[in-house]
Amino acid sequence: MSYPYQLTTLDAYHDAYRRSVADPEEFWADIAENFLWKKKWDKVLEWNFTEPKIEWFKGGKLNITENCIDRHLELKADDPAIIWEPNNPEERTRIVTYARLHKRVCQFAQVLKNNGVKKGDRVCIYMGMVPELAYAVLGCARIGAIHSVIFGGFSAQSIADRLEDAQATFIVTCDGAYRGGKDIPLKSIIDDALIGNKTIQRVIVYTRTRTPVSMIKGRDVWWEDEMEFAETQVEREGVVSFPAEEMDAEDPLFILYTSGSTGKPKGVVHTCAGYMIWTNYTFVNVFQYTPGEVHFCTADIGWITGHSYIVYGPLSAGGTSLMFEGIPTWPDAGRFWDIVQKHKVNILYTAPTAIRSLMGFGLEPIDGKNLSSLRVLGTVGEPINEEAWHWYNENIGHKNCPVVDTWWQTETAGTLISNLAGVTPSKPSWATLPLPGVQPLLVDENGKEVTEKDEHGYYNGNLCIKAPWPGILRTTYGDHERCRTNYFATYPGLYFTGDGCLKDENGNYRITGRVDDVLNVSGHRIGTAEVENAINMHSGVVESAVVGYPHDIKGQGIYAYVIVNHKHGDDDLTKRDINQTVSRIIGAIAKPDKIQFVSGLPKTRSGKIMRRILRKIAEGESGNLGDTSTLLDPGIVEEIRSGKL
Ligand code: WT7
Repeated sequence: MSYPYQLTTLDAYHDAYRRSVADPEEFWADIAENFLWKKKWDKVLEWNFTEPKIEWFKGGKLNITENCIDRHLELKADDPAIIWEPNNPEERTRIVTYARLHKRVCQFAQVLKNNGVKKGDRVCIYMGMVPELAYAVLGCARIGAIHSVIFGGFSAQSIADRLEDAQATFIVTCDGAYRGGKDIPLKSIIDDALIGNKTIQRVIVYTRTRTPVSMIKGRDVWWEDEMEFAETQVEREGVVSFPAEEMDAEDPLFILYTSGSTGKPKGVVHTCAGYMIWTNYTFVNVFQYTPGEVHFCTADIGWITGHSYIVYGPLSAGGTSLMFEGIPTWPDAGRFWDIVQKHKVNILYTAPTAIRSLMGFGLEPIDGKNLSSLRVLGTVGEPINEEAWHWYNENIGHKNCPVVDTWWQTETAGTLISNLAGVTPSKPSWATLPLPGVQPLLVDENGKEVTEKDEHGYYNGNLCIKAPWPGILRTTYGDHERCRTNYFATYPGLYFTGDGCLKDENGNYRITGRVDDVLNVSGHRIGTAEVENAINMHSGVVESAVVGYPHDIKGQGIYAYVIVNHKHGDDDLTKRDINQTVSRIIGAIAKPDKIQFVSGLPKTRSGKIMRRILRKIAEGESGNLGDTSTLLDPGIVEEIRSGKL
């Protein structure tokens, strides 16, 4: 067997689960033995959820890139590590072998060093989905710099906020990025983000689209020039491998910003050893990965799914990861299926929103495509409705591929609840069972464990986790107190996920969605407060309130109730102005789907907006609005209800 810790039978799963709870230190020490350490750990686990303090493999020394690359070189130097499929199907595919990946990552680590980047420095990466993005991420990890990847859809303002919060000193970007029919001017957006920035010393620019860019003397350098120089340097100095920095198990590996219920995104921090072990363990077990298989995760590396299941999970397992630059619907809605056929994809991992959108094109785009290489299908990012689950299972998997519904979060590093492909049973729209090491608990709003079933026979509560797994977040960058209040203070002694959840009598879990003020739009996490802040920046806006509503394709849509004091032109133009403002402040992903102008908002006497009422109206369930007697002006509800879009 390739991975001694791969659980290939139901009994093995139950046995591992039991052992992981009975003695977590022994359980994870056994698994950690399968990785490459420069020095073994002194203590497997030290923790309390009060501060919180969580330390895995303390005293251990390692470098994650040696685990993702160097250790595979002996047997797999010529095997593909990354298969890259370009946006334009006419363009040539690139195959990056482990030997080539090693060379490029070492070379880029040298580039970073030449440009003054040191261990612990924060490097912001804002690139399209090109292999160089993976080289940049791994190059940072090689020298111990902390990468902070920002999704290409975020605006200059969002980037500026993140650069400031992380006190980043370096940026790696592209001239532009291709996504479907669009060409996104990444470097130009970076230039806007850098107006007023005081910390950035260097911007390294990779050429992808040949969009004209302004290169500022003394600050901006070309990737190609820097890489070439590093290459000749390697030749001159006879260095074949850039030495991997010795990292402490608990040194930060990266920061990834994510939205919460407050206005400002927080920088989730993951550390070297725990993150590596969790992404590897979950990759190998959830997908039942076998070496040689092609794993296609359709996410962008700008999100946690791409970090964990395009880069670190598959590569640490010596696997082959397919990286796709484009989008599922360009040049047509058969693109995923063309890619599956062309590269003989074995595992396809995508989001329910993509499945629902492709369902809308019918079966024609699938017709005649050879999907017989597929062995496992996966979903992630939001609850999957039963209709989409069955469509995926029948039309893509031909009922021959187990569907894994993987529940997790940016904060968890990798999957916490999922069936294991072909090993533990699936149940449509249920994430099913916790991975070994994960101890879920459903609590009511007072933090008491839910012990009574509801009228449907399920336990129904807020999803918490009782004890740390190796991949749990360690802090939020620069503000540990924020980490404590956000995740560990709502229910003392527990990690609170922010999700509502059902549990059946067999111990299966079904995530029902966020219970806090966070929306999940097309699998992207967006805080309502963030969107409100952006809308309120518009000069004609007095106040706004944002809620989610069910959307056929996106899962949730964004519904904004807005009070304006001045309309510029007609209603429609004002709405477009507001959308433009949100695009500028956050990015196009946060644009409201619906904007309703109102003369007031339902508020309590103490001035609190009653979102419950607004949510009900947006959901089209205004028949029963519950108790409105505590409202300052109950009349406003009728006005809002009658104006619903
Ligand atoms: C939130 C986390 C996990 C990486 C991508 C999103 C929702 C995620 C599922 C699933 C139901 C899911 C939750 C969670 N979610 N996966 N399989 N079933 N809901 O990461 O941006 O950190 O968002 O996505 O609500 O809290 P994220």
